[in-house]
Amino acid sequence: MIFVLIIFSIQYSVFSLNMALKPAQIISNIRANYNTIAKEWDISRFRPSEVKVLFLKNAKPGMVVGDIGCGNGIIIPELLKRKIKKYYGLDISNKLIAIAKNKYLNEVKKNKVEFKVGNALKLPYPKNKFDIIFSLATMHHLPSEKNHLKFLQEINKVLKPGGKAVIFNWNLFNPVIRNRFESKGMVTPVKEKGYDERDVYIGWRASPDREAFRFIHIFAPEEIKKLAKKVGFKKIKTEYYSQLGKKEKNGEELVTTFIK
Ligand SMILES: C[S@@+](CC[C@H](N)C(=O)[O-])C[C@H]1O[C@@H](n2cnc3c(N)ncnc32)[C@H](O)[C@@H]1O
Repeated sequence: MIFVLIIFSIQYSVFSLNMALKPAQIISNIRANYNTIAKEWDISRFRPSEVKVLFLKNAKPGMVVGDIGCGNGIIIPELLKRKIKKYYGLDISNKLIAIAKNKYLNEVKKNKVEFKVGNALKLPYPKNKFDIIFSLATMHHLPSEKNHLKFLQEINKVLKPGGKAVIFNWNLFNPVIRNRFESKGMVTPVKEKGYDERDVYIGWRASPDREAFRFIHIFAPEEIKKLAKKVGFKKIKTEYYSQLGKKEKNGEELVTTFIK
């Protein structure tokens, strides 16, 4: 009986995903999604992957660093090792920010680390604040080209002239990562008007009766390059990498870097 109820609730939640969702609703669902899975997500995320560590090396001593969509603050230890001046983490999930604040309480007290609940589409920081911004696995949660552009414009606003941004997006066309989710029935296409095969919902199961289907847009390299150019960024590079940090055709991570 319990099994039947669980299957029904999963089927229902997948079905209800495709009931005429507007971009603003998708964004507010993302916040709810990450709040639903925050505790288990945090437990499962304790160290950044090799490819992330590789790109975190762009942070140099004395830099002011932004982390947009910081989750549980997973990159903080790596950045502090690199003797940055200060870290600012922002996330839309109040539960993940509460977890991060608690985890890095000492660093917060020492004023080395600051967290904010907020939306990447309206960054609550002054212009020209950051030497470098990381945004890892966050931009892909935004629906619509208008929001993708706005996200990059906000980064442009808060970066110092000459500052760098490092943006990671999941490549769910990579067969390994795709199979991992598909084999568990965790990939649902977005069937709304205005979306295509690059837009999917990806499930994450915190417990048998608690899971979140998160919206993901699968960026193509040319797509993100065109948007970054439009915003006026320079030295735009966008390439696929494996989790281990090797450049790889159709690799799991699409890594984009550019300079303001
Ligand atoms: C896949 S997780 C990645 C977290 C972290 N960057 C990491 O690498 O572990 C995506 C994060 O982006 C956050 N997020 C999604 N949409 C956001 C938005 N519009 N503004 C701010 N944060 C957002 C989520 O709450 C979640 O913590």
